[in-house]
Amino acid sequence: MRAMKDQPSRYPPGRVRDAIFHVMSLSSRPLSVKEIEDRVYRVIGPTPSSSVRSYLRLNTPEFFVREARGFYAVQGRSGRGVQADFLKGREWRDPVHFTKATLFHSDCFDWIEQQRNNSFHAVVTDPPYGLHEYTPEQQTKLRSGRGGVWRIPPSFDGHVRSPLPRFTTLTPEQLDYVRRFFFVWARLLLPKLVPGAHAVVASNPLLSYLVSGALADAGLERRGEIIRLTMTMRGGDRPKAAHEEFADVSVMPRSMWEPWLVYRKPLEGRVQDNLRKWGTGGFRRPSSDKPFGDVIASSPTRATERNLAPHPSLKPQAFLRQIVRAVLPLEKGVILDPFAGAGSTLAAAEAVGYESVGVEKDEFFFDMACKAIPRLVNFAPNGES
Ligand SMILES: C[S@@+](CC[C@H](N)C(=O)[O-])C[C@H]1O[C@@H](n2cnc3c(N)ncnc32)[C@H](O)[C@@H]1O
Repeated sequence: MRAMKDQPSRYPPGRVRDAIFHVMSLSSRPLSVKEIEDRVYRVIGPTPSSSVRSYLRLNTPEFFVREARGFYAVQGRSGRGVQADFLKGREWRDPVHFTKATLFHSDCFDWIEQQRNNSFHAVVTDPPYGLHEYTPEQQTKLRSGRGGVWRIPPSFDGHVRSPLPRFTTLTPEQLDYVRRFFFVWARLLLPKLVPGAHAVVASNPLLSYLVSGALADAGLERRGEIIRLTMTMRGGDRPKAAHEEFADVSVMPRSMWEPWLVYRKPLEGRVQDNLRKWGTGGFRRPSSDKPFGDVIASSPTRATERNLAPHPSLKPQAFLRQIVRAVLPLEKGVILDPFAGAGSTLAAAEAVGYESVGVEKDEFFFDMACKAIPRLVNFAPNGES
């Protein structure tokens, strides 16, 4: 039981209401009062049960609606909202086991909450940065070639490029949603990580400041950034519909790197104490004479690899295997990827011989990952990174 029965709240009333709103607006389904209390506890700490309940039942009918006995959702969520589409008729499939990896079909917020504390020794993940690019609505547009938030980068060398989500089109409300999404996500995740566990989170130069701030606010320690040196095909273009007039202008820099944020759950004691007790706290060195570094040259994911796992955000094995190998400094523990996509993190963990767990909520990608993981494990990146 997280919410406290008798203790007065340390927070002004609006804070409790906002916390309820945050946790509910991020959920794929109506939540029980107990689930709401638990998540509010994760977000703002001890909160009287009576104050959560009175917000739900009495104070703010304009915000919250009772969907069934004891279950509440944010008012108006059934028709709109970033994750609202997932409310209807969702049936989760059974987890699928590989040699040392397990993939769950679930919403990771719900799934993480059900895990035991101190279960994971690292997180390596590539989340939905813009969030709405992975809603069923936007995925239907992408799969039918209608674009939506996805754009096809211009072809300057005769090669057809893969679609990329547009992050410059996010509204202030969507940006605020991104921040809340990562804050609540990190709050739910923290107790499930062992002390010293690293979370390495893919981002992009436009949104990394928001994600990074949210992870730090949630209580993870910032430990730097890994730069994946790669041509992402974002930016560099001349002004739309005025190419000739402004032939010498790039609207924004052509991006040639991708930030992977590095965070750590605070240690228990010194690094050596933490390594002894939990097996975490540092990175595995590539070799005894070389420290783990924060710039990794990486080719874009090649067509041969994409054909094995045709996910629009597929990350290359050559790069991921280096990150995955490094995040378990003593080669012991479990790596979590809560936004598993086509399962590239799990495949990388299998390839280096580590245990891993993934969660993917889109059934189409879940099925893709089930087929792709064994193929990606056997994929030989041809000496490239
Ligand atoms: C950027 S992609 C990850 C792609 C992955 N790096 C790969 O190489 O295949 C993010 C994934 O997270 C999934 N996703 C979005 N919200 C989720 C949630 N709440 N729980 C679990 N998965 C989610 C999306 O369906 C999408 O497949």
